[in-house]
Amino acid sequence: MAGAAGTPKVFHFKLVLLGDASVGKSCLVVRFAKGEFYEYQEPTIGAAFMTQTVSLGDVVVKFEIWDTAGQERYKSLAPMYYRGAAAAVIVYDITSKESFDAAKSWVVELQSTDTLIALAGNKSDLDGDRQVERETAQAYADDMGILFMETSAKSGQNVQEIFHEIAVRLPKQSKEDAEVGKGGFAVRGQAGGSSPAGGCCGGS
Ligand code: GTP
Ligand code: MG
Repeated sequence: MAGAAGTPKVFHFKLVLLGDASVGKSCLVVRFAKGEFYEYQEPTIGAAFMTQTVSLGDVVVKFEIWDTAGQERYKSLAPMYYRGAAAAVIVYDITSKESFDAAKSWVVELQSTDTLIALAGNKSDLDGDRQVERETAQAYADDMGILFMETSAKSGQNVQEIFHEIAVRLPKQSKEDAEVGKGGFAVRGQAGGSSPAGGCCGGS
């Protein structure tokens, strides 16, 4: 699906991370976007925004990532961030049963939308303190028809993989029939410009 000049087609997708406080949402994004990990990651206030691309050969997926705050007081803001998202990564901590229950509530909340849902059981490096069995989460994900992986922002395990798999699964629509902000819209070559040629509005 190469562009006119052989440049890859770039598809933009809004992606949101949801889940309890301290499960590692920000660390997953930082690992994915920068390849780094911080033991003392600050709690997110409101939400944070980042972009990162995934190359699928002749197609490039550019994720516009909203990393939401898990603290209870920010919960009411979440719909603002997941509305219109093409994909959601719902994160829990494998050492916290409570965070898995919270993740299941997010899955139910988003199920009625057409957002592609991925469940991430993070902190897989802390296997000794595990409270949620991998098989339990996998069976739940299979039941709900959603993607599931155990990840570790610390070791890097499955971090690139989960975003790559989401990129593969998202439907790539052409610019003409894409709903802007939703199912991804393509831009040839350089990312950025999505306004139709000829422009509109304003001017004198
Ligand atoms: P909020 O922004 O409050 O919603 O939290 P969050 O989900 O963004 O969690 P954050 O990324 O800030 O991580 C919380 C803590 O967990 C940090 O101290 C991280 O160092 C630690 N952490 C995150 N991911 C991992 C992981 O994969 N393994 C281990 N061992 N620790 C992790
Ligand atoms: Mg955070």
